[in-house]
Amino acid sequence: MAKIRKAVFPVAGLGTRFLPATKASPKEMLPIVDKPLIQYAAEEAEAGGAHQLVFITGRSKRSIEDHFDKAYELESELEQAGKHKLLDIVRGVMPSSASCIYVRQAVALGLGHAVLCAKPVIGDEPFVVLLADDLIRTSGKGVVEQMADVHARHGCSVLSVQEVPREETHKYGIVEVERGSDGVMRVISIVEKPAPADAPSNLAVVGRYLLTPRIFEKLEQTEKGSGGEIQLTDGISDLLKDEHVIAYPFEGKRYDCGSKLGYLEATVEYGLAHPELGERFSAYLRAFGAAGFGDFQS
Ligand code: G1P
Repeated sequence: MAKIRKAVFPVAGLGTRFLPATKASPKEMLPIVDKPLIQYAAEEAEAGGAHQLVFITGRSKRSIEDHFDKAYELESELEQAGKHKLLDIVRGVMPSSASCIYVRQAVALGLGHAVLCAKPVIGDEPFVVLLADDLIRTSGKGVVEQMADVHARHGCSVLSVQEVPREETHKYGIVEVERGSDGVMRVISIVEKPAPADAPSNLAVVGRYLLTPRIFEKLEQTEKGSGGEIQLTDGISDLLKDEHVIAYPFEGKRYDCGSKLGYLEATVEYGLAHPELGERFSAYLRAFGAAGFGDFQS
């Protein structure tokens, strides 16, 4: 079974939900405590064996390239100042085993189009797609590694899924599944952002996809769909005609960092789990809660 060596990060979106923070800087560079969202995603991909990181970028995304590049001036200043711990942090952003490839998506025609832009660098092998604003915290293996394990057993595409409240189906790609005798869920159909009444289930695809290269053939034929965009969901729907696709309920907690509330939740929980800040932050939150949240409660 082919190993997963390449990860695609579609990062050309405008991030309008976080304006004005995202006016001049990408939403993927928003930090959760002290690390940008894109770095969490890159680390997860790396841990899953994907050492070639393919970023599908657009305008105003230069800081992502800079983030994963060597920072000569900063490194030499930290070195001269003897700040070795900070130097390690800066150097550790990009593991030596990883390489970055940037593909420019001139026009943002949708997630399916972004993934299709990766075709020349992916070639004929399976790969993963990570949407950095879906941040997933796990206690064991990261989700990419979990999905790579599923792929190693079954050899087909794998979609990470989780149950969502019925009234939220219009925010997601929703799958209809059939559970085999082996306990594995196979996707029967998939639809992008259905109204609750039309949704085939409440099982939503979150931002991790492991795809076979045949998806490119399908995306080349995919017409504009929901929201007038070329949807990855529609390409996957086409793929189902030829190949099995597994829906995989991953182990881990997902934070929707594409929404302000999800972003705040992640900030609080990652703050509590932070090795240096966790204890003090927890004491602060407890005291703040005990004081009835001060003047801030609405
Ligand atoms: C995208 C996909 C959708 C998926 C979601 C997961 O939507 O189109 O199918 O369920 O990511 O976060 P977006 O959130 O970009 O609108």
